Amino acid sequence: MNLPDLCQERNRAKTDIEFINIDLDIKPLFKGKKYFLRTYGCQMNVHDSEEIKYYLECLGFSSTNTLEDADIVVLNTCAIRENAKDKVYGYLGRCKHLKKEKKDLIICLAGCLMQEPHEIENLRKNHDYIDIIIGTHNLHELPKLIAKKKGMQQVEVYSNSDKVYENIRYSRDSKISAWINIAYGCDKFCTYCIVPYTRGRERSRKIENILEEVTYLKNKGYQEITLLGQNVNAYGKDLNLGYDFATLLEEVAKTGIPRLRFVTSHPWNFTDEMIDVIAKYPNIMPYIHLPIQSGSDAILKKMNRRYTISEYKALFEKIKSKIKNVAVTTDIIVGFPGETEEDFLKTLEIVDYCKFDGAYTFIFSKRMGTAAALMPDNTPLEEKEERLRRLNEVVNKYSLINNQKLLNQEVEVLVTEESEKGRNKVCGYTDTFKLVNIEGSKDLIGKIVKVKITEAKSFSLDGIALTEKVNN
Ligand code: 5AD
Ligand code: SF4
Repeated sequence: MNLPDLCQERNRAKTDIEFINIDLDIKPLFKGKKYFLRTYGCQMNVHDSEEIKYYLECLGFSSTNTLEDADIVVLNTCAIRENAKDKVYGYLGRCKHLKKEKKDLIICLAGCLMQEPHEIENLRKNHDYIDIIIGTHNLHELPKLIAKKKGMQQVEVYSNSDKVYENIRYSRDSKISAWINIAYGCDKFCTYCIVPYTRGRERSRKIENILEEVTYLKNKGYQEITLLGQNVNAYGKDLNLGYDFATLLEEVAKTGIPRLRFVTSHPWNFTDEMIDVIAKYPNIMPYIHLPIQSGSDAILKKMNRRYTISEYKALFEKIKSKIKNVAVTTDIIVGFPGETEEDFLKTLEIVDYCKFDGAYTFIFSKRMGTAAALMPDNTPLEEKEERLRRLNEVVNKYSLINNQKLLNQEVEVLVTEESEKGRNKVCGYTDTFKLVNIEGSKDLIGKIVKVKITEAKSFSLDGIALTEKVNN
């Protein structure tokens, strides 16, 4: 079976919905004890950690930022690249050392890395000091495992799931800006990517459950919602209920939440309806993260990305022409197996063409079990590093040029927190998702504020607060 066939097969599988009432079963057995939670990886993991926090807090734990003070350590792991894995194992060394002094310390590993069978085997064999191992599909079982923890390693990982759980509660990091999962998993099988294996098949939440969560958060005063999915444009396909991502986006916008965002979009099947809805509603932020991965058609084909550069360009142009003032960022991989200097030059060319507002750039990392891991790869690491350096130079040039266009302009910023850049400074993001450090008081936090931009750098802007937005 070739890859697209396999994807169709998976799309036909039925998504089961299960409502859970997990908090009713949790007893606060650990009052006065402390948890230390460390999150690796993407927004999906950050949001999963908000679920983990909820369970830990229901169990009676309170948070600490000092590892040595913890009674339970939870590492929520990432598997996307080898260095994410190395960081986890590096940190485990510290945890193991601490456990020697603190025998009752509970060590728990969660997240994507736990979905890889060879990792579990390694953890079972070589890291017996770890108490609990839990996967991405069953986080709601964590409180049960912690409560019954009994000296031996407990591993509770489902290899796959057709389920969507509803009624999940979160202890959210912010009272201003919230993540909402709209779909889990991914069926795209880009050949370099481990996500379809660690997060399972694509499964969407029903629109009514998402809207209920949006309304609940809006009523609590949230100013911004980000809809989360590995591939948001696939939203709804598995449900077959006659609605898609454009429908969802429009319905969420209509709730009147002040700011609405979404990540991540795939260039394949980014529909005209989506573009029209984004253009129509002022509360849908003009910011699109649209991973391109490579500028070479030959490499895109090997990556199983399902679009050519001319198709990406056509989509990019449509987005730029229809959505006023839109910012587009991207992801790019260099050193994919078989990438030649000519292929890489095409990547530089497309960056020159699109002049992205920003790009996350990576060196290809071989993930065991993915199709690309078996492809011949003769490019030396030093050459890949050199390509990354050359790419970043161009990427940063355009980030700066785009930011400089905002100099002396007035922009709207949702102020989310105090800035690390000094006293009497706060920070937040523009509608186009640019970070601004603002001279202004803490009272601005939680508000959408007009800011005059006074300085532009590659990765952030400086500004002065003018007024609070009128309809705030
Ligand atoms: N190696 C390098 N980068 C990767 N990404 C995903 N898998 C890999 C890999 N094996 C990058 C892609 C993706 C982003 C989230 O991470 O660019 O869009
Ligand atoms: Fe991975 Fe994204 Fe491709 Fe899915 S669409 S396989 S998450 S890179």
